[in-house]
Amino acid sequence: VKIYIPMDSAAVAVGANELVAPIQQMALEQNINVDIIRNGSRGLLWLEPLVEIQTPKGRMSYGPVTLEDLPGLFKSGWLFGHDHPLSHGLTNDIPYLKNQERLTFKRVGIIDPLNIQDYANQGGWQGLLKALTLNDEAIINTVTESGLRGRGGAAFPTGIKWNTVRQAQGQQKYIVANADEGDSGTFSDRILMEGDPFSLIEGMIIAGLAVNASKGYIYVRSEYPIAIDTLQKAIAIATEHQYLGTNILGSGFSFELDVRKGAGAYICGEETSLLESLEGKRGVIRYKPPLPAIKGFMGMPTVVNNVVSLATIPVILAKGADFYKNFGSGKSYGTLAFQLAGNIKRGGLVEKSFGVSLNELLYDYGGGSEDGLALKAVQVGGPLGAYLSENEWNTPLDYEAYSKIGAMVGHGGIVAFSENVDMAEMAEYAMAFCAHESCGKCTPCRIGSKRGVETIVKIRKGIQTKENLALLEELCDTMIAGSLCALGGMAPYPVMSAINKYPQDFIKEKVQL
Ligand code: NAI
Ligand code: SF4
Repeated sequence: VKIYIPMDSAAVAVGANELVAPIQQMALEQNINVDIIRNGSRGLLWLEPLVEIQTPKGRMSYGPVTLEDLPGLFKSGWLFGHDHPLSHGLTNDIPYLKNQERLTFKRVGIIDPLNIQDYANQGGWQGLLKALTLNDEAIINTVTESGLRGRGGAAFPTGIKWNTVRQAQGQQKYIVANADEGDSGTFSDRILMEGDPFSLIEGMIIAGLAVNASKGYIYVRSEYPIAIDTLQKAIAIATEHQYLGTNILGSGFSFELDVRKGAGAYICGEETSLLESLEGKRGVIRYKPPLPAIKGFMGMPTVVNNVVSLATIPVILAKGADFYKNFGSGKSYGTLAFQLAGNIKRGGLVEKSFGVSLNELLYDYGGGSEDGLALKAVQVGGPLGAYLSENEWNTPLDYEAYSKIGAMVGHGGIVAFSENVDMAEMAEYAMAFCAHESCGKCTPCRIGSKRGVETIVKIRKGIQTKENLALLEELCDTMIAGSLCALGGMAPYPVMSAINKYPQDFIKEKVQL
């Protein structure tokens, strides 16, 4: 019997590893031969550890499974797919999963992440094989026509970025995967790297072919040890099978790949700080221009793309630009892996076409708040994204529609808050986050965020509320206009959205100093 127990961080954090030996032991006692496969997460995080049993009908799921549940599960005959209170039936029929449109994440949770044959059997390497039949311009045209935009958050067209690097002069070009996923409430890069690392590797080789780069780096945040380990093993396996190294699959093209570990600074997710860090220096923003596409790693033309952008490339090459472009809404083509977090009953990963609404994600998928109270505010796009109030939750999630309401889709992180949240506290947190993570290079952010925290503290204490709110607004304007990068330039958005949408949380009784 084949048993799937995820080795994804989210599953491991709630005890997946501890299940392996007892399951093996109990199966042995029942004289049943089991083959345990450590897969990635299906993304149904509230059910982790989600254990799946291969049956003739398909994979049956049980979760969340604890050590205490095992005797009962064995007694009920779960290894034959029998019913049990923890059973959710066929995994593929769980509505949360069934109603998704999985393109980038289609293999995640299904395959053994480090089994290269499994990867190939499930459509892996098809994009690379196609790319090897095309010239650089044709590869880039396919990516451009697919409408793929940067999934890290800025949504810049990937094909145009690649073309800039292709045309730039440089002895050595580089592909850098930005896996410094620092946005609060986001985990799609991690789930992808832990569940299907070869898709990122394949995307990076294709990027290398497109811009003529022979060297790549995956810059992973140090908080992701399982992802780092999985990627390192996957790179070794891919090299052994001649997908990496010199003369890939006999094509004459060479591509080498390495993993680099970040040191825990949010700002190193910004591409120029990332490059500084990759070069062994302190993570501080560089002035732009020059763009990394022209002068990036070691001063050479460099593609810096988010993990999900790169891992989406293989499906675009394999199935064609039109296939991908058929998903989405407005000018936001394809799908995005939304990540549901915060005060939500069913947190997890939902890959859907752009155009889905927050209401659908929060209720149809998320099942409403975890604490049972009404939802009050939702932050979309990480700690720099605006808070959205209920009247905005029907807006289609696409880049332009969100920008029109002063919000951003970003990397697809969705953090829900129920009615007991104090939005003034959240505003203070947003500024404090900026002050803590500021690289210090420019004054509006370095000093402004500190003054911002102080001012919000006064407002929360009810000290000269009106004057301090006006001061805060002016400070936010200065930060937006004068900051060098998105950290200082966008931290005011959550602050101002909290003030504008939840003014009652900022007006407190006057207290004596
Ligand atoms: P940006 O708009 O300055 O640049 C976007 C990308 O396009 C960059 O890679 C830039 O080098 C490239 N680019 C621009 N013009 C180009 C051209 N003509 N040719 C080639 N490439 C070109 O945005 P930035 O500052 O890189 O990113 C800000 C975004 O990052 C925010 O919107 C936020 O959503 C996101 N973010 C994501 C986080 C995460 O954890 N994923 C964390 C924090 C912020
Ligand atoms: Fe550094 Fe903040 Fe200025 Fe960005 S906005 S360059 S993080 S000081």
